[in-house]
Amino acid sequence: MTISAQSIFDGLLPERLSFRSEADYFAPSNIALSKYWGKRDKELNLPLNSSLSISLHKWGSQTKISVAADGRDQVRLNGEAVDLEQPFARKLIAFVDRFRRGQNLPLNIQTFNSIPTAAGLASSASGFAALTGALDQAFGLGLPKDKLSMLARIGSGSASRSFWHGFVQWDRGQLTDGRDSFARHIDVQWPEFRIAIINVTSKPKSVSSRDGMNHTVATSPLYKVWPEQAERDCADIGAAVQDKDFSKLGTLAEANALAMHATMMAARPGLQYLLPESFTILEKVRELRADGHEVYATMDAGPNVKLIFLQSSEDDVNANFPQAQIIEPFAAL
Ligand code: ADP
Ligand code: DP6
Repeated sequence: MTISAQSIFDGLLPERLSFRSEADYFAPSNIALSKYWGKRDKELNLPLNSSLSISLHKWGSQTKISVAADGRDQVRLNGEAVDLEQPFARKLIAFVDRFRRGQNLPLNIQTFNSIPTAAGLASSASGFAALTGALDQAFGLGLPKDKLSMLARIGSGSASRSFWHGFVQWDRGQLTDGRDSFARHIDVQWPEFRIAIINVTSKPKSVSSRDGMNHTVATSPLYKVWPEQAERDCADIGAAVQDKDFSKLGTLAEANALAMHATMMAARPGLQYLLPESFTILEKVRELRADGHEVYATMDAGPNVKLIFLQSSEDDVNANFPQAQIIEPFAAL
């Protein structure tokens, strides 16, 4: 039996919605240390493997919702009006419509991304999480975070992990309706933990994460080994987080990211998000490690590289990557 995504919303929302209050919701972006790559159900957006991420502190999406004064939906991204026919607005409104279900509730939706949009820095994660959180506020739903995570997951899988700061795990779940597939916070504080974003380009990518992963699952002979390995990586990275074993965490996170990129490069036709500059950065990271510095890299569906390291390596990272944007995920907000 196929289950529609709409039935998940219907099961969690009251039949009649009304606008309760102006909303303003922030969700941090997140970077997976153990990646989500591949779906077992495209309609419900259920993953083939669990994943584990670290949130990007103040970097993310802020979404405000108010009643549309002229009775027509309006969407603004970073202060600029977005044409409702543009893919960005269409996807956003399609998600809002899953809440409204035909009820006449025109909205003014303003969203601000403090990260580049669609450049492999997880704007879809923070964007759909902030939108879900803001809709919850606007309609006075008061849903708990596990339910917000489940609904945001249907918008974009990685969004399920953007409702918390710090480390977050999205459990793949076993049920066919996805009721057990949502994220949870991992209660570990690691104030010395650092992330550096090495921006190779802020240009939007030509193949979305969604299309890239679906193409990989459908055509890559290397994908067969991914789900089991990724599940094991996620469990091992989770254990390394609990033990605060940074060498283990970094080694596994880098290996997991490279394995994900290997599956897509082997797709037919091959898919490569990494650019020559990304590989140059990876090489430099290996040299740093050979010199005894514990710095590791991870890359998503885009050419930008994210480094993870501890505070003790911050000077080395700054010296070798002067363009790095350093994030302290556990700093006070
Ligand atoms: P990224 O690497 O930035 O996540 P994707 O191509 O995976 O790139 O996702 C980008 C998509 O995420 C956008 O096209 C848009 O549909 C959605 N998105 C990004 N930011 C927001 C936002 N603030 N609010 C709603 N949706 C957003
Ligand atoms: C490489 O969450 O953007 O960043 O669920 O289809 O919207 P959809 O995909 P999305 O994919 C993220 C892929 C990744 C790895 C990760 O964040 O876990």
